Amino acid sequence: MTISPLMPVYDRADIYFERGEGVYLFDDKGERYLDFVAGIAVTGLGHCHPALVAALRKQSETLWATSNIFKTHGGDRLAQRLVDLTFADTVFFQNSGAEAWECGVKTIRKYFTATKQPQRFRIIGFKGCFHGRTMTAIAASKAPKMVDGFGPLIDGFDLAEWDNLDSVRALITDQTAAIMIEPVMGEGGMKVASPAFLKSLRALCDQHGLLLYFDEIQCGMSRTGKLFAHEHVGVTPDVMCIAKALGNGFPIGACLATERAAQGMTIGTHGSTYGGNPLATAAGNAVLDVMTAPGFLDEVVARGAYLQRALDKIVAAHPRIFVGQRGTGLIRGLVCVPPARDVNRAFRAQKFLAVEAAENVIRLLPPLIVTEAEIDEAAELIGRASTQLENAA
Ligand SMILES: Cc1ncc(COP(=O)(O)O)c(C=O)c1O
Repeated sequence: MTISPLMPVYDRADIYFERGEGVYLFDDKGERYLDFVAGIAVTGLGHCHPALVAALRKQSETLWATSNIFKTHGGDRLAQRLVDLTFADTVFFQNSGAEAWECGVKTIRKYFTATKQPQRFRIIGFKGCFHGRTMTAIAASKAPKMVDGFGPLIDGFDLAEWDNLDSVRALITDQTAAIMIEPVMGEGGMKVASPAFLKSLRALCDQHGLLLYFDEIQCGMSRTGKLFAHEHVGVTPDVMCIAKALGNGFPIGACLATERAAQGMTIGTHGSTYGGNPLATAAGNAVLDVMTAPGFLDEVVARGAYLQRALDKIVAAHPRIFVGQRGTGLIRGLVCVPPARDVNRAFRAQKFLAVEAAENVIRLLPPLIVTEAEIDEAAELIGRASTQLENAA
């Protein structure tokens, strides 16, 4: 038998991490790595943040699981806080991003049956989008790598060109239910939707009676310097999914919706065994405690600007390695000249962790608690890796 006990669907780095502390990871040989992956935008508050450790320790000694047929104060509190902090009137908790995203799709489809327009079920997304790996989520992205061999795919998703309103308009038919977008496209290459584009999508939805659906699983939870990326623009969606940094590593996702959009989600229409369990919502509440503390977002904005300046210098110093940088806040990408995979390998040799994205981009997603000194250290390691690549060429 040659197959590994862990199904080999990931090209895993040959590193065994055993411990994390703030922005650092330590492997089984005691080597320290500067972690600008953060679980791919998951550990927003860094590894083993004391507030999270305390909250989970306390909750683990109190109650782990009930069922969604019973209430918990932690779950009610987290839902209420998300409602108070956002456009939403109601929240459903799930265990992952893909599940939270799919809850949004179900919410949208149910809205149109509840409002007697069952012919409207199609959702317009964007080429390069990523919403997870469930059958529905891969059908929405249509990326060959994700869908090949998994057909027949669920029908109902159309793909428009990024930042191209005409291509969105051209896809709207009497079957269209919603327009769905990541305000900052993550896997697709760290592309920030322009304020004008998001505003136009809102207007298009209003004009055609469609719902606007934001996927803030990667770009939400303070990564752009606001709790949610769309807040920079002043446009609100009807439905939004979040996950990743909401639990800082403890699995939790959430689908948020307005009362109007969620009108079809009545008793019995949806459910989850683990979604919103006491451990997950304790983590979520602890994350919100930190993120809503005065000054937290100001620090993210300041660190984002600092990282941007550092990356600009790197790009200027290494034009044979980088064409430019893009992104916002602490969700940024370096656009590479050589294959991003090779550049990332050189980073790793310097014990600097980053993650690739489409369009030959390397994503930098440091924990939001990163300091200027740690950004300086990242710049130093990136610079060293780049020089090494230049010398090897
Ligand atoms: C924008 C976006 N949506 C959905 C997902 C899926 O989340 P999960 O892997 O938790 O299912 C991801 C994960 O990377 C994501 O970045």
